[in-house]
Amino acid sequence: MYKDLYDLGEIPPRGHVPARMHAFTIRRERYGRPLDAFAREIVPVPRLQPGHVLVYTMAAGINYNNVWAAQGRPADVIAARQKAGAEEDYHIGGSDGSGVVWAVGEGVRGVEVGDHVILSPGQWDEGAEDVRMGLDPVASRSMRAWGYESNFGSFGQFSLIRDFQCHPKPGKLPWDVAAGFIVSAATAYRQLFGWEPHVVRPGDPVLVWGGAGGLGTAAIQLARQVGGKPVAVVSTEAKAEVCRGLGAVGTILRTEFDHWGRVPDERDTRAHAEWMHGVRAFGKRFWAELGERRSPRIVFEHTGADTLPTSLYLCDNGGMVVLCGATSGFRADIDLRFLWMRLKRLQGSHFASLSQCRMVIGLVAGGQLDPCVTEIVEFDRIGEAHQRIFDNTQPPGNMSALVNARAGQIGLDV
Ligand SMILES: NC(=O)c1ccc[n+]([C@@H]2O[C@H](COP(=O)([O-])OP(=O)(O)OC[C@H]3O[C@@H](n4cnc5c(N)ncnc54)[C@H](OP(=O)(O)O)[C@@H]3O)[C@@H](O)[C@H]2O)c1
Repeated sequence: MYKDLYDLGEIPPRGHVPARMHAFTIRRERYGRPLDAFAREIVPVPRLQPGHVLVYTMAAGINYNNVWAAQGRPADVIAARQKAGAEEDYHIGGSDGSGVVWAVGEGVRGVEVGDHVILSPGQWDEGAEDVRMGLDPVASRSMRAWGYESNFGSFGQFSLIRDFQCHPKPGKLPWDVAAGFIVSAATAYRQLFGWEPHVVRPGDPVLVWGGAGGLGTAAIQLARQVGGKPVAVVSTEAKAEVCRGLGAVGTILRTEFDHWGRVPDERDTRAHAEWMHGVRAFGKRFWAELGERRSPRIVFEHTGADTLPTSLYLCDNGGMVVLCGATSGFRADIDLRFLWMRLKRLQGSHFASLSQCRMVIGLVAGGQLDPCVTEIVEFDRIGEAHQRIFDNTQPPGNMSALVNARAGQIGLDV
């Protein structure tokens, strides 16, 4: 019996692609608070394209990038796509997901209809000239974060994605857990192990900002696994406890310091001295938590303007501050003297390679990495979940949302 629209969790006959689907969308006229920007709608199922697959979405991960999408800043993702020729005047976010391959486009390789897959967001054109010249695909001009810069993410009953973004789902992993960790864990993996020679080594002190967040919970575990000594920064004692439970050797409450944000001009001697006092006190606290007077060889950054001056100051001589985001703001003060005189490295890092994705899926499947998917929400709470991230009241680790799956479901009963 073919229908043109199915309820959430209602499974269409195998191979049948309905005309319409339920989705959580963002529209330009709703840009603002995530709670207002997201709305449930019925929209057309995306059209299959060459090299792409249509996935019957089982669950979707909630990430920071759609908090940005909801606000329409710093990028207006809908306007940018329309400028590039897209017809849709709505955005279906969701950069983390899991589901069943439902239909495959022309030229698809490596996946078949019926495969159970985890979806990763790094989307590029394999035929792009820079990729063919050997550039890291994540740095390619064709790179788009799927479910953010590109449309038809996992907040719809069907996701449209390139074949290489599909990874086999470990059999025992429930759909909701499988959907919740790739963005955080693979990004953290690349930050900590992707930038030779600045990879975490046994005994290396590592400063982890936002230790109880999606990235932070993965970073603490990954650093610890290779013998690193992560010290996590958080804003509450409850989060500090979570970090210690994951292997942090120490924790710092950032609420005990107030030197955040812009660095006062040196000519304002009093204000600058106060800033120096704050950052040095923070450094001493880092030593106390570490149990030795050593500076972090790797600083795990994503918090941005509020914290970057402290990160650069604290980073060990010859060490690296590696950042993949800027939650508190994109314009940060950098004292360039620290970089050149102390041979420090400031490294940008964006998501992960396909092999790094497979690496973290393997670690989760093998029980070596807790994916920290601590809360599963119903489909209708996707906007609310993003609002909690916006308000910084989200649970520790990662959240995911049920799309067609039931909580804890592992397979698909067709
Ligand atoms: N480029 C990429 O591929 C990529 C991938 C994933 C994430 N990101 C970016 O990385 C950032 C973090 O992502 P996430 O998933 O880990 O988010 P998350 O789960 O919300 O965690 C972020 C943590 O940052 C801390 N924080 C918030 N404001 C802060 C401030 N002003 N100063 C210091 N700490 C602050 C909070 O911890 P406390 O309040 O406890 O300190 C929060 O737990 C986001 O901006 C996201 O867009 C980028």
